Amino acid sequence: MSGSSIGVIFRVTTWGESHGPAIGAVVEGCPSGIDLIEEDIQQVLNRRRPGSIASSSPRKEDDAVKILSGTFHGKTTGTPISLIIENKDINSTAYEDIKDVFRPGHGDYTYFKKYGIRDYRGGGRASARETAARVAAGAIAGKIIFREGMEVIAYTKALGGIVLKSEGYEAKRISREDIAGNDLMCPDSDAAKNMEARLEEARHSGDSLGGIVEIIVRGCPPGLGEPVFDKIDAAFAGALMGIGTVKGVEIGAGFNVAEMTGSQANDPITPDGFLSNHAGGILAGITTGQDIVIRVACKPIPSIAKIQQTIDVKGIPVELSIKGRHDVSVIPRIIPVCEAMVSIVLADHLLRQKAIAHE
Ligand SMILES: Cc1cc2nc3c(=O)[nH]c(=O)nc-3n(C[C@H](O)[C@H](O)[C@H](O)COP(=O)(O)O)c2cc1C
Repeated sequence: MSGSSIGVIFRVTTWGESHGPAIGAVVEGCPSGIDLIEEDIQQVLNRRRPGSIASSSPRKEDDAVKILSGTFHGKTTGTPISLIIENKDINSTAYEDIKDVFRPGHGDYTYFKKYGIRDYRGGGRASARETAARVAAGAIAGKIIFREGMEVIAYTKALGGIVLKSEGYEAKRISREDIAGNDLMCPDSDAAKNMEARLEEARHSGDSLGGIVEIIVRGCPPGLGEPVFDKIDAAFAGALMGIGTVKGVEIGAGFNVAEMTGSQANDPITPDGFLSNHAGGILAGITTGQDIVIRVACKPIPSIAKIQQTIDVKGIPVELSIKGRHDVSVIPRIIPVCEAMVSIVLADHLLRQKAIAHE
C-alpha cells in the first residue's frame, strides 16, 4: 500500500493495523545529536489515550513506545529512528458479526472496492489506532521545532454545535495551562461542561458528535514553505486531511475570505509588522513569521449504536447497529494527532529551508 509516508527531508512512514501485533513509525532525516529517550515520546503519546470522559470509549490502549533504532546514549544518531507500539487489549470477536457488512461512514466500502480484500478487525489500516504512530513520530518533530523556538498548541474550538466565540481571526493567546482545566482541552470551562453534557446525551441516544479543533503555531520564522506545489498551507491541509474524520481545513480567515473585500482581507504591513492576521501566518505558501492559525472540522464518529441502513459484500441490504467500544467524538483524542501532523510538516519545512539558507 503506498501513501504511508509524509515529508521530504524529515520523512515519516507509519505501518501496522488496528488488530495486528503492533503499529509503528520510521522517522528518517532527523538531525543527529538531539536528546531523545522513550519517555520523551511516551509523555506525548499518553495525551491521545482513551480516557474516562464521555467522548472516549472504555477500551484500554496501553501505548508503550519502544525505540528500536536511531539513538545512542539518549541522542539521535542521524540514522532512521524506528518506533514500535504493541497492540494490547485487542478483541476482534466484536467484529465477527459485521465482517461482511460495510459500516456507513467508514472505509469498509472503499477499501473493499480498492483492494478486493477486507481486514474487518477494527478498521484495519483506516483505524484511528494508526494515529498513535503519528503522535510518536510527531513527538520527535516537536523536539526539532522546539529547538528553533516554535510551539504548536491545539484545543477544542467546537463540539456538537457548541462553538467558542472568537475575537476576529487572530489566534487567542491560549496556553497549555488554559486547556488543562478540563478533559476536553477546551479553554472555556463553562463551554466544556455543556460539551460534556451534549456528549453524554449523544452516547445515551446511540449517536456521535463532530467538532472543530484550532491549531496555533507560535514562534515560526518567516520563510518556511516551498513554492508552488509544496506551499506550506497545502502541506498542512494534506497532513491534517490525512487524519480520519477530518473533512475540512481552514487557514486564517478560511472560508470567510469569500465574503470579504480585498481591503478587509489584506493584512496591512508596517515597519513594526503586520496589523492583522487574516492570512493565518501564511502568504503565497510561505510563513510570514506571524502565528499560524489552522482549524480542522471533524465529522462525527461513524460507529454508532443507532440503526443504520447498509449493504453486505454481496449487495444485500442490512440493518446495522454497531456494538462495541467506540468513541462518541474524536475530540479530544484527535488534538495531539493534529499537533503531531503540524509539527511533522514544520520540521520538514524547517530542514528544507536550512538546505537553501541565505544571508
Ligand atoms: C483520534 C481518533 C479516534 C477515533 N475513534 C473512532 C472510534 O472509536 N470509532 C470509529 O468508528 N471511528 C473512530 N475514528 C474515526 C475513523 O477512524 C474514521 O472516521 C474512518 O476511518 C473513516 O475515515 P474518514 O472519516 O476520513 O472518512 C477516530 C478517529 C480519530 C482521529
